[in-house]
Amino acid sequence: TSRRPLIIDGRSYPTDAWTNIPPPILDHYGRKLHVQPNHPLSITRKLIESCFPEFQHHNALSGVVTVDQNFNSLGFAADHPGRSRTDTYYINKDTLLRTHTSAHEVDVFRSNTSNGYTIAADVYRRDAVDRTHYPAFHQMEGALTWDRNHFKTTDDFLHHLSSALANFKPPNVEVEDANPPFHPERNPPQEKHHSPEEAELVGAHLKRSLEHMVVTIFTEADKALQSSGLELTAEDKDPLKVRWVESFFPHTSPSWEMEVWWRGDWLEVLGCGVIEQPLLIRSDVPSRVGWAFGLGLERLAMLLFGIPDIRLFWSKDSRFLSQFDENKPIRRFQPFSKYPAAPRDVAFWLPKSGPVVAETPAATSTAPSPAGGKQTEPTLDTAPAFHENDLMEVVRSTAGDSVEDVTCIDNFKHPKTGRQSLCYRVTYRSLEKTLTNEEANSLHEQIRQELVTRFGVELR
Ligand code: PHE
Repeated sequence: TSRRPLIIDGRSYPTDAWTNIPPPILDHYGRKLHVQPNHPLSITRKLIESCFPEFQHHNALSGVVTVDQNFNSLGFAADHPGRSRTDTYYINKDTLLRTHTSAHEVDVFRSNTSNGYTIAADVYRRDAVDRTHYPAFHQMEGALTWDRNHFKTTDDFLHHLSSALANFKPPNVEVEDANPPFHPERNPPQEKHHSPEEAELVGAHLKRSLEHMVVTIFTEADKALQSSGLELTAEDKDPLKVRWVESFFPHTSPSWEMEVWWRGDWLEVLGCGVIEQPLLIRSDVPSRVGWAFGLGLERLAMLLFGIPDIRLFWSKDSRFLSQFDENKPIRRFQPFSKYPAAPRDVAFWLPKSGPVVAETPAATSTAPSPAGGKQTEPTLDTAPAFHENDLMEVVRSTAGDSVEDVTCIDNFKHPKTGRQSLCYRVTYRSLEKTLTNEEANSLHEQIRQELVTRFGVELR
């Protein structure tokens, strides 16, 4: 069978055995929600940009990138799970829809037009289906670097960093930094490239900058909550807290995650770290050192505005869009009435010889993976295993935004035959209308048949 090229942004791309982008994903490509006037994602982006007034802000970088840009240039190991076709949307073996804004780091560093930058953009990941995950979403990242050659001596540079640090007003929140700044194995400083003082000061500058940013954002969220007229619980009045947790990214070391205590929960807000020096060397700016962070815009916008379902960001319904005004203080979203949910279960046996179900994989960036892997071209996995993300894709391609959630509710291995049986609950609920029983049944039946055709499962 001949493969048809994919047309994206008016350009034609050849397809091959790697191609795995279903049409609904391409329908989302190009909406540019993060720059639509008065869109909550755009308002959130601007609020973050306002925390870094001196930075250059990039908001129009193309979402079609190479495997090199998205993975190799950042030092992702050859076997990093993020590279697999179950996690990433490939146009062809060399080209994909970016899975994170970091895909542009090397290009932006190489252009060397500013010390600091932010990038906001749409990103794509094959992922679970629930109220906080959607295969197309938005990230924002920022970085700040210093050119060590701009300073006469090393001491001048260290002195510059220390006085920059002294300029930070202490954040008016409690900050827990239980981790020592470095861990010799798990989170090492880059001793080959950075003096201990340098690494320490850059890391501290990163933390103070992001604490400042997060306090700005959550102060707005708090104001919106206080003026919402909602009845506040004790948890709503609990003061904001911040904590730093060790983390792992191929492109930073040491790395941290920032978590924020808000309304009774620790929330993961962003990932960050001291930029891997080899990355800056590859970008032809070897004398620069600095830090970078990345965050999910939907996550923050959901908290800021109280938006309950991630599908709403794509809504063209004026009951949603008319609630946001970038020239007014942030106000809580007033949910319009929810239509009823229609849960349906699907149970099936995996094919006898079938491989074991892969676990829901960790997110592209956070999955630890041994550093220093060879950067070879990824190879196509031969046996098409049943992977949960493939089921998610079948659901999305068949029922689209009429599904709110897909959850595995039973996973059972027959003691005698060794066969594995799975049961998933698919919750149908449209944001736009009440689904009739017939509509839900018909969508569900299509999904069941598609599972048989695609994976040879035996329905129970
Ligand atoms: N790229 C990381 C992600 O997708 C986020 C990140 C950006 C981490 C920059 C560190 C520095 O989650």
